[in-house]
Amino acid sequence: MERLQKVMAHAGVDSRRKCETLITQGRVKVNGKVVTELGVQVNQSDLIEVDNIPVDREEPVYFLLNKPRNMITAVSDDKSRPVVTDLFFGVEQRIYPVGRLDYDTTGVLILTNDGELSQLLMHPKHEIEKVYVAKVKGLIQRKMLRQLEKGVVIEGKKTAPAHTKLLSSNVEKQTSIVQITIHEGRNRQVKKMFEAVGHPVQKLTREAYGNLNLNGLSSGEWRELKHFEVQQLRELAKD
Ligand code: URA
Repeated sequence: MERLQKVMAHAGVDSRRKCETLITQGRVKVNGKVVTELGVQVNQSDLIEVDNIPVDREEPVYFLLNKPRNMITAVSDDKSRPVVTDLFFGVEQRIYPVGRLDYDTTGVLILTNDGELSQLLMHPKHEIEKVYVAKVKGLIQRKMLRQLEKGVVIEGKKTAPAHTKLLSSNVEKQTSIVQITIHEGRNRQVKKMFEAVGHPVQKLTREAYGNLNLNGLSSGEWRELKHFEVQQLRELAKD
């Protein structure tokens, strides 16, 4: 048995808090009866309805994808461009990506049907560590790396402290490879940060997300997360 709001959140109805509101507003039924109290426990066979629409309670599943370039982080695209879920042929659950990577960004992407974990991971206050490797234009100086670490202003707001490491520079091609670790998840954040210090990104890969990295996964490959990996993610999101 599990709490009604938890089961609803798991099924992707909304965050646990918003599910509580739905319950107290009298919009939720269990086995045909309106429930307005928050303590109610349900089991797998109970029928839950929100606004008279049954909640589809799939088993939660969790995947890690090495996202290739030129693919949209979405479940569908109005311009019929390839989307990441196209790669999950044979997976019947309705999974969706946790957060997004740009069309041309590669690397670690989690997909799940667990709405609650997804919301937890994406919440800015949980500050999951993300490691990116960027190939940038120009030979980046230590001074610029320090600026990135202290924070740069993008769209009127300073970025939170980051870590950087210069991995290599190519004098002939006038490019640098930099590893950058951030905790926020603002839109196109890494590209905007490097732009702000005058070194536009040419290529970007997310190498790690919390406890997860790309080990063993080629571009376009995915695997199911192990139980302990999902637990670790939950712990990271709670810290
Ligand atoms: N930062 C970016 O600029 N792009 C991404 O895809 C991810 C992080």
